[in-house]
Amino acid sequence: MQPVKLSALRSIMYEIAINGWNVLVETRNDFSLWRLIEYPKMTEYLELKPGDRVLDIGSGTSSYPLMLTHEGVDVVVVELDADRVRWQEAKAAEGKAGSGRLFAVVGDASCLPLRDATFERVTSISAIEHMHDDVAVGAEISRVLAPGGLGAISVPYTKTERSSFFAGLKRFQKIKRNEFVQEGKGTLVRFYTDADVEQRFGSGVGCRITKRSFFGRKLLNDWYHESRLNRYWRSFILKDWLLATVVHSLEERLLAHQEPFDIMFQVERVG
Ligand SMILES: C[S@@+](CC[C@H](N)C(=O)[O-])C[C@H]1O[C@@H](n2cnc3c(N)ncnc32)[C@H](O)[C@@H]1O
Repeated sequence: MQPVKLSALRSIMYEIAINGWNVLVETRNDFSLWRLIEYPKMTEYLELKPGDRVLDIGSGTSSYPLMLTHEGVDVVVVELDADRVRWQEAKAAEGKAGSGRLFAVVGDASCLPLRDATFERVTSISAIEHMHDDVAVGAEISRVLAPGGLGAISVPYTKTERSSFFAGLKRFQKIKRNEFVQEGKGTLVRFYTDADVEQRFGSGVGCRITKRSFFGRKLLNDWYHESRLNRYWRSFILKDWLLATVVHSLEERLLAHQEPFDIMFQVERVG
């Protein structure tokens, strides 16, 4: 059976099918450039076939679980916010899930309401950096993964220490090394070093990091995403499609020595 592939263009088509045409001019649910890079790569790292089952942790109101169900994959969503779980259920009830099944539950990823070794595939996309006990989340992902099972995770990255975040765009206060909180909103954002990734999701919890890649260096992060002009050009998702496919590939080839904004990695549960 062919592996499930999700290109950036296919992700946009699904996003339109799930949320309507206006997503092309008004991005929703964090669906933007980063997700057009993450969804294809996470899907590749999950090595899915139709009929497989995936646990998606911290899904929010992302369309990714529904994109996978459209590809014939069953998805279990564990999300802390009950309204966002209801959003996922409502979309599935509207018939937006395709041929796969979607189960959404309210739960805390640091204490997953699931038995040991019950999932062959687990993913969490740009979510764990917002979770308070990320050490427990890493241990929980390992616990629910079956031996030989695969995880695909993305989190913000730094080689050593990130001194600012979204400087000049949104006010984030540094609360400790590589941790920021958005003023007024309280949103936590954490950056991970290689050692953090290894400890929390790799050898520290009985897993092996088997593949990794990055995105968002000087061009896509500093000049585009964290630019003061971001609020003007954040919409218009078709432009992000070009950035995700053409500019991202060039940047990873030519500017790989610069610090990236985010790391995406595959983990394998050691048997
Ligand atoms: C940035 S959003 C999700 C992004 C989403 N995965 C995507 O692909 O666009 C992070 C989500 O994590 C959820 N979250 C935060 N802490 C959590 C926890 N301890 N357990 C489960 N979900 C949590 C938040 O409610 C939020 O919906």
